[in-house]
Amino acid sequence: MTQVNPNYLQIENNYLFSKISKEKEKYINKHKKNDLIDLSIGDVTLPLSKSCIAGINKASLLLSDSKTFTGYPPSSGHDFLKEQIIKNDYINLNIQKDEIFIGDSSKSDISNILDIFKENITVALQDPVYPVYVDSNILRGNKIIYIDNLDTFLPCNEKIDIIYICSPNNPTGNVIKKDTLKKYIDYAIENNCLIFFDSAYEAFIQDENTVHSIYEVENSKKVAIEFRSYSKTAGFTPIRLSYTIVPKEINLNLSNSLTVSLNFLFKRMKDTKYNGPSFLSEYAIYNTYITNSKKELKDNINYYLENTKLLNDFFKTRNMSTTSNINSPYVWIKCNMPSWDYFYYLLENYMILGTPGIGFGKSGEGYFRFTGFSSRENTLEAIKRLEKIKPT
Ligand SMILES: Cc1ncc(COP(=O)(O)O)c(C=O)c1O
Repeated sequence: MTQVNPNYLQIENNYLFSKISKEKEKYINKHKKNDLIDLSIGDVTLPLSKSCIAGINKASLLLSDSKTFTGYPPSSGHDFLKEQIIKNDYINLNIQKDEIFIGDSSKSDISNILDIFKENITVALQDPVYPVYVDSNILRGNKIIYIDNLDTFLPCNEKIDIIYICSPNNPTGNVIKKDTLKKYIDYAIENNCLIFFDSAYEAFIQDENTVHSIYEVENSKKVAIEFRSYSKTAGFTPIRLSYTIVPKEINLNLSNSLTVSLNFLFKRMKDTKYNGPSFLSEYAIYNTYITNSKKELKDNINYYLENTKLLNDFFKTRNMSTTSNINSPYVWIKCNMPSWDYFYYLLENYMILGTPGIGFGKSGEGYFRFTGFSSRENTLEAIKRLEKIKPT
C-alpha cells in the first residue's frame, strides 16, 4: 500500500475548531435544543457591506459581456487591485505590484509557503498562537521553538530559520511594539533568518503607536514577508480574499554560495499550485477602495470591537481579563482551571461556547478565548449568563 507521510500522524487528530464544532453538535443532540451562544470560532456575523455587494454585482456584469469577460486571473491576482492595495494599505512604504500576491486565504499561503524551504528547519513561534503555524510546521517535520514572551526571547542561542510574529496576536490580542520588532529585524538580518509577519487583525488596532505593517520598520524588506486577509477586515470569510507581500530584496542562500530570490520562488510556487483568486472577490474589494467605502468596513469592525469591549469589561470586574488595551476582536481571560474543564463548565452550566486556551499552545493552558464577532444581542446575553457565576 502507498506509504503515508509520517508527519501527518504527528498533528492532533482534530483541528481545534473542528473539535469544538463536534462538542457543539453533541450538546445539541443530547439536549434536543440549541440554546447555545457560540463565542468560540473567530468568524464574522455581519452581512457583507454595500460596497462589496455592489462590486460583486459589477463584476458579474463585466463577466456577462464578451467584451469585458476575463478568464483565469494571473496567479497573483489582478493589477487593478494591487494598485489600490499600494495606494491605500502601503502609503509611502514602497511596495511594488510584483511583490503583492493576492490569494483566497492567508491560511493557505501561511502553510504553502513552507514548501519552498527544505524540511526539518527550525522555526520560532509565539505561544499561544494561531494553531495553523504549528500544524503546518509539524507537517514539514520542522523543529518548533516556542516564544512565550517576545520581549525576552532575543538574543536566542539556537539557529532559527523562520520567526513567526502575529500582531495583533490571535488569541491574546497583544501587539508587538515597534522597537521590539526592530530588534527582531536586526536579529534576522544578522542571523540569516526570515520573519513571517501575520497582520490578519491589523484593522482592529486601536493603539496609535502600534505598527500596522512590518514595513513601517526600517530594513524589514530585507527579511520580512507579510500576510494580510480580508476575512475579518471586510467580512470576507464566505467570499475569500487575502494577500501576501514578498519583497524582492529577500534572497535565500543556496549551497553553492549563490542566492535565489524568495519572491521568484513564491511566484513559482503560486503558478504551480494555484490559479488565482476569484474575479468577483477581487472586484468586491476593489470597489470598496475606489468608492472610498472604508468607513462602512470600519463601522463593522467597531461593532465587533464594542462586543469585545463589553466582554472584556465584564471580565475586568471578575479580575479575569488579561487585556488592558483592545487591539483585536478577541478577549483572552485567565480561567483559573484547565481550559477544557472551563469549556465544559461554561457549556453545561451557562450554554456558552468559547475556545480553550490550550488549543493555541501549552502556554494557553489556564486561559480561555472569547470572540467579539458574535451579534450584540448574543454578546449581551452571554454576559447576562456569565453574571450568574458567583465571583470568587
Ligand atoms: C492570525 C490569523 N492568520 C490568518 C488567518 C486566516 O485567514 P484566512 O481566512 O484569510 O485564511 C486567521 C484566521 O482566523 C488568523 O487568526
